[in-house]
Amino acid sequence: FSSVATTVQRNPLFSSINSDDISYFKDILGDRGVVQDELALVAANTDWMHKYKGSSKLLLQPRSTEEVSQILKYCNSRSLAVVPQGGNTGLVGGSVPVFDEVIINLGSMNKILSFDKVSGILVCEAGCILENLITFLDIQGFIMPLDLGAKGSCQIGGNVSTNAGGLRLLRYGSLHGSVLGLEAVLANGTVLDMLGTLRKDNTGYDLKHLFIGSEGSLGIVTKVSILTPPKLSSVNTAFLACNDYASCQNLLLEAKKKLGEILSAFEFLDSDAMGLVLKHLDGVRNPLPPSVHNFYILIETTGSNESFDRENLEAFLLHSVESGLVTDGVLAQDINQASSFWHIREGLPEALMKAGAVYKYDLSLPLEKMYDLVEEMRAQLDPKAKVVAYGHLGDGNLHLNISAPEYDDKILAKIEPFVYEWTSKNRGSISAEHGLGLMKANKIHYSKSPETVQLMFSIKKLLDPNGILNPYKVLPSTLFS
Ligand code: FAD
Ligand code: MLT
Ligand code: ZN
Repeated sequence: FSSVATTVQRNPLFSSINSDDISYFKDILGDRGVVQDELALVAANTDWMHKYKGSSKLLLQPRSTEEVSQILKYCNSRSLAVVPQGGNTGLVGGSVPVFDEVIINLGSMNKILSFDKVSGILVCEAGCILENLITFLDIQGFIMPLDLGAKGSCQIGGNVSTNAGGLRLLRYGSLHGSVLGLEAVLANGTVLDMLGTLRKDNTGYDLKHLFIGSEGSLGIVTKVSILTPPKLSSVNTAFLACNDYASCQNLLLEAKKKLGEILSAFEFLDSDAMGLVLKHLDGVRNPLPPSVHNFYILIETTGSNESFDRENLEAFLLHSVESGLVTDGVLAQDINQASSFWHIREGLPEALMKAGAVYKYDLSLPLEKMYDLVEEMRAQLDPKAKVVAYGHLGDGNLHLNISAPEYDDKILAKIEPFVYEWTSKNRGSISAEHGLGLMKANKIHYSKSPETVQLMFSIKKLLDPNGILNPYKVLPSTLFS
């Protein structure tokens, strides 16, 4: 299927790349850091969903903060627009160019700079792949405070720039809490050293927060300092079935009460989501056969007392079955079974990709209303567009996905603005964790007041007066005309 057409116009104030620019970049980065190869450019111009496609002719791969600074200073003086890029796993069209913006990929800045075993503070370059950090920390007896299905490709700089939530936010909180410091480069090349390693620091405005979740629109993150928790010995995983959405909600409340301090994940998927995974992912089987259940819940506990934690979870499950909240369930007997449960949940984005075109909505909604939206959406669409729901129930985050054979404006017209209006009416957020990117830059008003958006624009103007950093993304295009 083809990518979606953009309705945005190229900003005529931006220059186009010429041969002098290429020579300049080769001078500072060497031949290796200046990529013009067609195949590499196709990949860097195309997002993970194959939904958004740019037409950039140049990919730069800096190896140091100084190189990032030189690139940006030059691009700013030449009015060359740029797209910061990490692992290119973003789901809102933020990580690829819209037109011919220069792509700056941080992948070559992948060094771990320090790790303090006493405090658990890790300092690394922005291009470190999340899974490599997880593996490094595992050997040290620690874990990353975030984990997501894209860990094999996404970079910590991309995670910070999207303020990625993921599978264990419920336990370890958002990156606004665990990121202790950052180094970022502004559009004019200024390097901001905010790479603190302190838990507490109230000296003035905490500017690092501006860069967490700003999707490359205010600066390029080059280094990150992050607080990592110790790895605990007892991890238990259960896969459960519920008859209705009300039971899922009550189960969450019970889990918070009874598993409180050891609860580390509470994820859900509905029967359409399960059907999709079983159909499209090889080797996956339903852990709770033979009947089809309406809802599935994945619960994980992490603690330090193996026998107590296991007994606690077993008692909780027994009680949930007896009280009728849970209709069936299985507790993982070993690590392989636990990963097979996680594979079902984490494999959903890939299963959707294999099924065809996908319209993705990442919403924060009041828990009690969340599934009403899914049902209303289903009633509104004809069956060839399948409504698939899953998400981080423990965080109030619904991933509403509409899977269709191909992108079709008639389907889109039934989804939007309905989904955004519904979310806004219920005081939800139109982006819980994926960001706004290109997809939702013009939709920000559904979740933020005009005064707030105006202040965001003033900050953007202050930090990036020529608007070269990730143009057409995050903020509405009308502000820039
Ligand atoms: P990219 O996709 O390359 O970029 C994302 C944005 O950040 C872009 O706007 C880009 O310009 C900017 N950016 C990247 N690096 C930098 C930098 N160094 N400095 C400044 N700006 C930068 N998200 C979640 O929140 N929770 C999930 O559970 C989750 N699961 C996912 C599962 C799958 C299978 C996939 C494909 C995606 C998932 N995502 C999830 C979405 C995505 O946001 C994350 O994968 C990740 O945080 C993006 O990191 P990245 O390095 O790939 O960034
Ligand atoms: C997830 O939780 O699986 C991710 O955010 C990706 C998605 O929404 O598909
Ligand atoms: Zn998610």
